[in-house]
Amino acid sequence: MINIYKMSKKQALLQAYNLNGLELKNRLVMAPMTRSRADNTENVPTAGLHDVYYEQRASAGLIITEGSQVSKEAVGYVNTPGIYTKAQVEGWKMVNEKVHQANGKIFIQLWHVGRISHPDFHSGELPLSASAINPNTQAYTPDGFKDTVTPKEMSLEDIKRTIGDFKNSAKNAMDANFDGIEIHSSNGYLFHQFFNGTSNKRQDEYGGSIENRAKILFETIEAIKEVMPEQKIGLRLNPSLHGIFGMTMDEETIPTFDYIIERLNEYDLAYLHLSEPFNDVSEVPYAVEEIAKRYRPMYHGNLIINAGFDQESGNKVIEEGNADLVAFGKPYISNPDLAERLEGNISLSDWDSDTFYVPGKKGYIDYEAKARKQEA
Ligand SMILES: Cc1cc2nc3c(=O)[nH]c(=O)nc-3n(C[C@H](O)[C@H](O)[C@H](O)COP(=O)(O)O)c2cc1C
Repeated sequence: MINIYKMSKKQALLQAYNLNGLELKNRLVMAPMTRSRADNTENVPTAGLHDVYYEQRASAGLIITEGSQVSKEAVGYVNTPGIYTKAQVEGWKMVNEKVHQANGKIFIQLWHVGRISHPDFHSGELPLSASAINPNTQAYTPDGFKDTVTPKEMSLEDIKRTIGDFKNSAKNAMDANFDGIEIHSSNGYLFHQFFNGTSNKRQDEYGGSIENRAKILFETIEAIKEVMPEQKIGLRLNPSLHGIFGMTMDEETIPTFDYIIERLNEYDLAYLHLSEPFNDVSEVPYAVEEIAKRYRPMYHGNLIINAGFDQESGNKVIEEGNADLVAFGKPYISNPDLAERLEGNISLSDWDSDTFYVPGKKGYIDYEAKARKQEA
């Protein structure tokens, strides 16, 4: 196949972009990816691992870190880093120094898993969620995969504390010199559990109507805005998630996301980060199959689109005006030099899914930056 990008002007993915004041050298975003390398007692990002991993990928226009828990009770996977202790802030500061020295930009993804957790993470206590409904999936515990349990329905006090944890973590993120934060309101985790009518059966002001189910997200944005500029706040949504992480779509799912996304226009956020469906939803009655196409006209700010893109489809989605930036997940695991590879039309390396979540350097910082070597 003739590669048109070799002959024509700079491909769309490699064009610079101003992200609400933050100059990005290209439109490639490294998608947030849990890598479970913080295997120390306090779940601190570690020198020689996290700093090397992110620095290697700093030629992306923007890096979004792995999901990082905002508190001890927010966790649901082994060895994921946090952003709520002093040591964690220092660890991230060290990572950010390296990324910035390499002329990269980096946001941290702030995470609360809600019911996608297990009592093993909480000294036997139940995980928290919008309602006491078991997602009937599995949690990745220190002893391997275990069935999830029925979580505890969050009290108003729990909700208030959790919003405070997000605010505190956003403040910590600024102290750690991140360029911004991404609220992980996606993929069946805590916020998504509030949005969805099958996981939220609350009778109070956080349940029932669409507005009520979205309330915790907007209260969190308001709280975070008190400690950092809204221009540095991004958030992630996955409207057509179905049959994964305990999520089941119903007739109100898409109207709920329509409401949230319309309302996000009231803010001057860094971006909205959307995912195309993670699986085939053509037979799912209430699902939208083309997320970027539906929400581009609805959302007036910067739009990142993700899931399943490659060089061709990534350039196309930008050229067609359906997104401003494209987030690549798995390709970034095995191609630290993804930007240079696209620029030089160099073939991509495959990822090894066996090493996605295991401790140590293997499958983490040992992928070759083939395109950089050729440049040298
Ligand atoms: C190993 C791995 C870990 C992931 N961890 C996260 C995460 O922490 N937060 C998140 O929002 N998405 C996470 N995802 C989803 C990715 O951000 C992305 O949506 C997904 O990989 C699809 O994009 P891709 O087709 O470019 O890989 C993860 C995906 C993978 C493969």
